[in-house]
Amino acid sequence: MNFQINTNKATEVKADCLILPIFKDKKLRGATKTINTANNKVIQDFQKNDDIQGKIGQTRILPVLGKGYKRLMLVGCGEYDKYSEKNYKKALMSSLAKLSSTSHKSVISYLSTSDICGKKSESQYRSTRILAEAWHQVSYQYTTTKKSNAKKISLKKILHGTNGQPRIASMKKGFDEGDAIGKATQKVRMLGDLPSNICTPSYLAKEARKIASKHKSLTLNVMNEAQMRKLGMHSLLSVTAGAKEPAKLIIAEYKGSKKSDKPIAIVGKGITFDTGGISLKPSNSMDEMKYDMCGAATTIGLIQVVAELNLPINAVFLVPACENVPSSTATKPGDIVKSMSGQTIEILNTDAEGRLILADALTYAQRFKPKFIIDMATLTGACVVALGAHHSGLMSNSDGLAKKIIDAGLASGDATWRLPLTEDYSNQIVSNFADVANISTRGSGAGTITAGCFLQKFVGDFDWAHIDIAGVAWLEGANKGATGRPVALVSEFLISESSN
Ligand code: BES
Ligand code: MN
Ligand code: ZN
Repeated sequence: MNFQINTNKATEVKADCLILPIFKDKKLRGATKTINTANNKVIQDFQKNDDIQGKIGQTRILPVLGKGYKRLMLVGCGEYDKYSEKNYKKALMSSLAKLSSTSHKSVISYLSTSDICGKKSESQYRSTRILAEAWHQVSYQYTTTKKSNAKKISLKKILHGTNGQPRIASMKKGFDEGDAIGKATQKVRMLGDLPSNICTPSYLAKEARKIASKHKSLTLNVMNEAQMRKLGMHSLLSVTAGAKEPAKLIIAEYKGSKKSDKPIAIVGKGITFDTGGISLKPSNSMDEMKYDMCGAATTIGLIQVVAELNLPINAVFLVPACENVPSSTATKPGDIVKSMSGQTIEILNTDAEGRLILADALTYAQRFKPKFIIDMATLTGACVVALGAHHSGLMSNSDGLAKKIIDAGLASGDATWRLPLTEDYSNQIVSNFADVANISTRGSGAGTITAGCFLQKFVGDFDWAHIDIAGVAWLEGANKGATGRPVALVSEFLISESSN
C-alpha cells in the first residue's frame, strides 16, 4: 500500500473517495464542514433525513459530481467528547474494510484525531501510525489453504489529509512505523493461523531465515537437537522427546547500535502444537493449540520490525520451537530432568511444557548479557480466565521494566495487566525430588503466577518481564483467527527504547 500525506484543503483534493467523520452531536467540523459547504450542504441534508446518526463505525457512501473527488464516505465516530485513538481506529477499520471491497483506488482520510481534537505532534504521529496499522489489520487474508479467501483489492493509495495544515515530520514517521508494524502483524497472524502440519519448527526457522537474508543487520543461527544436548538443554529436549518432528532453537541477532550497547533479549514460546503430551488435553477445541506458537510468531515479526525500521538498538531474538505430543518416547509425569541452568525439574504434568522450553531459552539468553529479557508465551489457561481477551498478563522482577511495558501497552492499544510475583507463590512450586516442580504442588490457584515464578528461576538477576498472551493471541468461535498481538506492544517498547 502506498501511504501519503496530503496537505491540500479538502475541497481541492483529487482522490476517489474522501473519508469524513460524523459525530453524534450532528455538528460538522474540519474537513466535513468544508466539504458540506462546497456541496450544497449535502451532508447536513443527509443528517436531517436521519440517514446517518454517528454511531461508531457506521458508514454511508454518497456520490458527488463535478469535483476532484467522486465519493464521500461518511463515518460515524461516536460522541465528540469521547473521540479517542481507540474510537479513531474503530472508525477507520470500519471504513477501510468497506472501501477495500469497492473499486476505489485512492482514498483520503479526515478522521484524524489531530485534525479534529488538537494539533499536538504526538497525536499527528499516532494518526498516521494508526491509519497504517488499521489498513493492515483489515486487509489481512488467510489464503494458504483456502484460496477463496483471496479477495481482489483495488485500493492502491491511502492518504492522510491535513486539510490545509502543514506537514510535520512525525506524520511520515507514523506511517513508516505503522506500516512496518502492520506488515509484521499480518505475518504473525499468518504463522498463527497455519496448521501444525505446515507450520513446524523447521517452517518457523525458514521464515526467520527469509527475514534475516534481507538485512545485513541480522545474523541467524538455528540450533538442532544435538547442539541443544551439548549445551545441556534437557528441559527443552524433554518436551520434544515424543515428537518425530525435529525441535529447533532459532537465534537472531540484530545490530543497530554500537557494539558495547547491551542487547534487549526477546524470547517467544514456539510450541507448534500442544496436545498436552502424556498429560493429554481433552479433545474439544484442541485444534486451537496450533496457536501455541504465537509467542514465537510474534518474535519473528519483531525481527522484521527492528530490521525494517533500522532501530538504533541491539537485540537478540530467541525462539525455542517443538511439538508437544505423546508417544512411547515421550516424557512421563514424574520424570526429572536437568535444565541448562543446572537446576533439576520434576515434570509433574507434561502439559505445563511452555515453561520447560522457555527455561532453557531464558538461561541461554543470559549469555548475551542483555539489558532486559522479555518473553512472550501462550502459557496458561488460567490467564484466559483471569484477563480474558483484553489484557495480556504481565509479570516482572523489575518495577522499572514493568512500567515501561505497561506504558507501551497503553500507547499502542495492546495493553497488559501486571500480576504479582511474590515468594508466597514461588513456594507453591516446590518438589520433594527436584529443585523445582513444573506445576504447583501446593494448591491449584494462581496458575498464571506460578508459571511466572517458574520462569523467574531461569533469568538470574537480569531485568526480565514475562507476557502471558494465552487470552489475546487468537480469537475463538466464528471469528477464529490469530490477532498478531503483542507485536504492537513490544514494537512500541522497542521504538521507545530506541530514543533513550
Ligand atoms: N498452551 C497451554 C496454555 C493455554 C491453554 C493457552 C488454553 C491458551 C488456551 C499450556 O501449555 C498449558 O497447557 N498450560 C496448562 C498448565 C497446567 C497444566 C499447569 C494449563 O493452563 O492448563
Ligand atoms: Mn500445555
Ligand atoms: Zn502450551
